Amino acid sequence: MKRKLKNIMVTGGAGFIGSNFIQYLFNNGFDGILVNVDSLTYAGNPENLTEIEKQHGEKNYFFKKCDIQDYKNIKDIFQQYDIDAVIHFAAESHVDRSIYGPKEFIFTNIIGTFNLLEIARELWKERDDVLFHHISTDEVFGSLGEKGYFTEETRYSPNSPYSASKAASDHLVRAYYKTYGLPCTISNCSNNYGPFQFPEKMIPLMICNALEGKPMPVYGDGLNVRDWLYVEDHCEAISLIMHKGQDGQTYNIGGENEWKNIDLVNFLCEILSSLTEINIEEYKKLITFIKDRPGHDRRYAIDCKKIKKVLGWSPGHTFETGIEQTIKWYMNNQKWVENIKSGSYKEWIRKHYK
Ligand code: NAD
Ligand code: TYD
Repeated sequence: MKRKLKNIMVTGGAGFIGSNFIQYLFNNGFDGILVNVDSLTYAGNPENLTEIEKQHGEKNYFFKKCDIQDYKNIKDIFQQYDIDAVIHFAAESHVDRSIYGPKEFIFTNIIGTFNLLEIARELWKERDDVLFHHISTDEVFGSLGEKGYFTEETRYSPNSPYSASKAASDHLVRAYYKTYGLPCTISNCSNNYGPFQFPEKMIPLMICNALEGKPMPVYGDGLNVRDWLYVEDHCEAISLIMHKGQDGQTYNIGGENEWKNIDLVNFLCEILSSLTEINIEEYKKLITFIKDRPGHDRRYAIDCKKIKKVLGWSPGHTFETGIEQTIKWYMNNQKWVENIKSGSYKEWIRKHYK
């Protein structure tokens, strides 16, 4: 198998992980064509890629504002750029939003993925040097008890509309590989954290609220466990899969870094205090226990032995360094936080799409 990987379509590249991934590729010598296809929902912000746009725009990097459900436009982009790999991040990604309004999750995550797969199947009929890589989540496996880990063989058991929609899209990708021989890989990763994450997810929400002196809301008893993965380590794993992963294979990616939510929030207070010289108790006072999320999965933890063994990957950042870098990034990028919360990038869209 020799993948071409020359002209790459990244979907959802204006979001958190997608924009980190695009930066990762260019910073690590990628010199092909990269087309970022993103519909710019509330979570997508083209400002994430200002530097990339400056350095590679209109030469190697192209942005297309487009919904992944749009058959005609996506097919045109595929043909215009002679796409030979799709790295598929685009999704509705927040569990709480899926509880209040599941519809968008069904459309984007399931129908959108189906649309991309159909176009790839149609246009890649004669090719075996292509790749459709699908980014998924460990949440498709459901909830763990106090012991055990999710492996690639764990039975799917999604509990939220978000994880159910991701599970459905994983099954479609698998089916396209099995039925049509479409060259596909899937990765299921644990909770990511790092720069450019929308401040609705737990870590940036806690950091931003703490910096503003607002309550830090902890759901339920705060004893739910998540396995935290630094986004750059995740990007490295995806790049390895893209280059060396085997068609039809699934890879679990985790940080080997389990934390109870309440312990993590206390740890954030400690690092915040060391960076701002504000007494830790001032931050801890902000911690507020609130009503639990319905269907709140108790524990996620990934066994990532497979990707370590077959692709030689391992998480490179310790939680201490990753969290410190993340907090510093949010402290230095308050304007970005303001902009993404207010949706001020819509001005950018108006200018670019008159
Ligand atoms: P995000 O919400 O930050 O970004 C999603 C991006 O997709 C945004 O730029 C948005 O504008 C775009 N998008 C949404 N709907 C679209 C549509 N219909 N057409 C085109 N673009 C659309 O999400 P993220 O945290 O970067 O997650 C990326 C992927 O990783 C998702 O597939 C998610 O399920 C998966 N994932 C995320 C995590 C995590 O901790 N963040 C963990 C496991 C898996
Ligand atoms: P989140 O970042 O939403 O990711 P996910 O639900 O996909 O794991 O939440 C991480 C954990 O933090 C989860 O157990 C829910 C909890 N949480 C809070 O306690 N308070 C909050 O305000 C948020 C957003 C999450």
